[in-house]
Amino acid sequence: GLPDRVTIWEVGPRDGLQNESAVVPVATKLEFLDRLADAGAAVLEATSFVHPKWVPQLADAEELLAGLDRRAGVDYPVLVPNERGLERALAAGVTHVAIFASATESFARRNLNRSLDEQFAMFDPVVSRAKAEGLGVRGYASMCFGDPWEGAVPRDQVVGVGKRLLDMGCDQLSLGDTIGVATPGQVTALLAAFGEVDRLAVHFHDTYGQALANTLAALQAGVTTVDSSAGGLGGCPYAESATGNLATEDLVWMLDGLGVEHGLDLDRLADTSAWMADRLGRPSPSRVVRALRG
Ligand code: HMG
Ligand code: MG
Repeated sequence: GLPDRVTIWEVGPRDGLQNESAVVPVATKLEFLDRLADAGAAVLEATSFVHPKWVPQLADAEELLAGLDRRAGVDYPVLVPNERGLERALAAGVTHVAIFASATESFARRNLNRSLDEQFAMFDPVVSRAKAEGLGVRGYASMCFGDPWEGAVPRDQVVGVGKRLLDMGCDQLSLGDTIGVATPGQVTALLAAFGEVDRLAVHFHDTYGQALANTLAALQAGVTTVDSSAGGLGGCPYAESATGNLATEDLVWMLDGLGVEHGLDLDRLADTSAWMADRLGRPSPSRVVRALRG
């Protein structure tokens, strides 16, 4: 069966914009967030408090949060890799944070400058402090279905990393297909290997056009939180061949057809993505945005 309702975790402002070659002005980012809130988004991953040299596109995190019109009923989580990032996020008044681990050695080194094992020592004090401050804490695991340097990733390794994040105190674990190589059978098998789905979310990139099929497999396995990015913006600057996330509009189109509730307004979303595509100077990669606004 399928869930009656799904929470869409919108990552466009963070995962989308972190991978744009152009640095988007903070005023445009703020308008993007406002438009997404107007379209009914309940969770808007706003930015990252990472090292500004590592992700210059999000170096304006402080300025962004200072200017943000926080809407009632909307969560605005931010990425934090370490204690320095958490300090900055707390000073900016955030209520929800996400740490981001790698399921593989190669990506841990490239994305975090840590070994697979060392990353947990970096995250542990972040999660403890965030929980003590009363923040919501999400954990990401990246490269859950394939890694550009290592190829196939053993399922046990992914489950091991994911369970460590949950045991550390993360409220939720988002399983990332960072480079978009997964297919639905892998999704079903990985979710079954976790043995529980209540605290799991899925995060698919659409590189090989499988994101929607993978999402359906996750919904059928009982997952009720799905990550997507408005207009299909996105990628990861430290992962070769990562393209955009599953487009929120493509997800909404499918959920509407299935009669699964989500709370978003497709027209407003498509308008927002068409507007953002103009700002970025290229068409949206979302099939639904192109069909509706092309
Ligand atoms: P490092 O160089 O090892 O950092 O980078 P360090 O701990 O050695 O510190 C070096 C200097 O950086 C120090 O300054 C720190 O204060 C400073 P100094 O004392 O030398 O003057 N520093 C910071 N400054 C500001 N904010 C901070 C911060 N941390 C240290 N937070 C680090 C380690 C984790 C910082 C670095 O590797 C980094 O920033 N990585 C972020 C990479 C990233 O953001 N990647 C994209 C997000 S992940 C993703 O997209 C995948 C996802 O979507 C899921 C999926 O698709 O699978 C989530
Ligand atoms: Mg991602």
